[in-house]
Amino acid sequence: MTDSFGSHFRTWKNQYIDLVESKTDKIISLVTEHPTPAHCESLKKLIAPFSTVFCEIGPGSGGHLIELAARNPTAAYVGFELRFKRAFKTVQKAEKRGIKNLFVVRANALTMKEFFAPASLAGVYVNFPDPWSKKHWKKNRILNPSFLEVLQELLAVDGFLSYKTDHLEYFEETLETVGKMPRFSIRKLTKDLYASEFVEANIPTEFENLFKSQGLKINFFEAVKLGN
Ligand SMILES: C[S@@+](CC[C@H](N)C(=O)[O-])C[C@H]1O[C@@H](n2cnc3c(N)ncnc32)[C@H](O)[C@@H]1O
Repeated sequence: MTDSFGSHFRTWKNQYIDLVESKTDKIISLVTEHPTPAHCESLKKLIAPFSTVFCEIGPGSGGHLIELAARNPTAAYVGFELRFKRAFKTVQKAEKRGIKNLFVVRANALTMKEFFAPASLAGVYVNFPDPWSKKHWKKNRILNPSFLEVLQELLAVDGFLSYKTDHLEYFEETLETVGKMPRFSIRKLTKDLYASEFVEANIPTEFENLFKSQGLKINFFEAVKLGN
């Protein structure tokens, strides 16, 4: 093909699209905004052998999700990740470690409610979500009040929402929203994870290691879902 300047170019295709598609035993990849019944059925089948299911939203390069899955092989760990390369690499790394209980839905995490029944998740992890810092971009934040309601609904009683970020304003805003939700109770809270009692059980993420090396403080809370 030739462009208007007479130079040749090829149509670029993300090589990870095909790689993701080759891993149907571990990755469900959406082609449209919403899952089809077949997508939902596929995930259901993959996680059917596990009685406990945890999710991570935006696992990125996957280090945290992989470590969780390695430590607790009797539960299923499902990451919702937008990017093809990160979805594929996470599954590839997990396979190299012989991990069989990690799956990725390559899709917007806002579709989670279409995959899971209410009260079916034991825990949801959100680590260093994109902060969309500029005022007019804040509407893009994944942890907005309506999605927090969805997460609350998907969690089983005693299930938890775990949130870590370096972004203090996003942290405080989310903490305030969650603090007002009657079925959530904050049971762990720190604005300096590495100076807190929670550091011992902490599994760092790739972004966390980067922010920590820059001297940034890590904020963390865990909210538990209460019974009626
Ligand atoms: C800032 S990175 C953090 C990655 C990882 N959690 C960490 O701490 O190293 C945010 C990740 O979330 C993914 N992401 C952003 N919005 C998303 C969405 N709506 N649904 C699923 N993944 C999303 C991005 O592709 C990226 O991998």
